[in-house]
Amino acid sequence: MTRVLLVTSSILADQGQSTQLARHFERLARQRDDIEITHRDVVADDLPHLGLDELSSWQVADAERSEAQRELATRSDERLAELEAHDVLVLAVPLYNLGIPSQLKAWFDRILRAGKSFRYTENGPVGLLEGKRAIVLGARGGQYAGSALDTQTPHLRHMLGLIGINEVETVFAEGLSMGDEHKEAALTTAHAEIEALIARL
Ligand SMILES: Cc1cc2nc3c(=O)[nH]c(=O)nc-3n(C[C@H](O)[C@H](O)[C@H](O)COP(=O)(O)O)c2cc1C
Repeated sequence: MTRVLLVTSSILADQGQSTQLARHFERLARQRDDIEITHRDVVADDLPHLGLDELSSWQVADAERSEAQRELATRSDERLAELEAHDVLVLAVPLYNLGIPSQLKAWFDRILRAGKSFRYTENGPVGLLEGKRAIVLGARGGQYAGSALDTQTPHLRHMLGLIGINEVETVFAEGLSMGDEHKEAALTTAHAEIEALIARL
């Protein structure tokens, strides 16, 4: 059984193009009885920015946490446990202002946790999550993939690499704001790439 955690992050919810790519992935995955899929929408989740009180709660041992600290630490503990329980992380990611949605960053801020998902060593950080891979389904108004202007993909790869997820595949629907013809062609290609990805899962 392959357990897939599908994370969506469009502020347009179901109308989002990245959500539509995720839905396509999900429809195909659900036709397979050897794939189990869990959906988490980080926009609906509405996590606040990571702040000092929450960060501090991570430094306190479970047994010594106050009630408030226990509650704050749960935000990260639960999301990390969810990720750990899956084999494949599928991230449906819009490009907003040249970066990832802030809601997705808030999710990563709970996942990238020293001592839990990576540790610092004399040779630099080492990821602690093992045997996982990731798939990024990206939706973009313009065209960036493969160019130096695509700072979003390296950002995602570095964050995933930090916690030990080094196998990352990408599917982009790009140029979605560059006219209907362009958009249709980009979505058709992305759908075909998703079908090929699922066949390899
Ligand atoms: C707030 C906002 C910021 C955006 N910034 C960019 C951008 O920097 N570059 C770009 O190519 N497209 C940009 N777009 C267009 C989106 O990438 C495009 O609409 C894509 O479909 C977003 O994914 P979604 O439909 O899943 O939300 C932006 C759209 C929004 C709403």
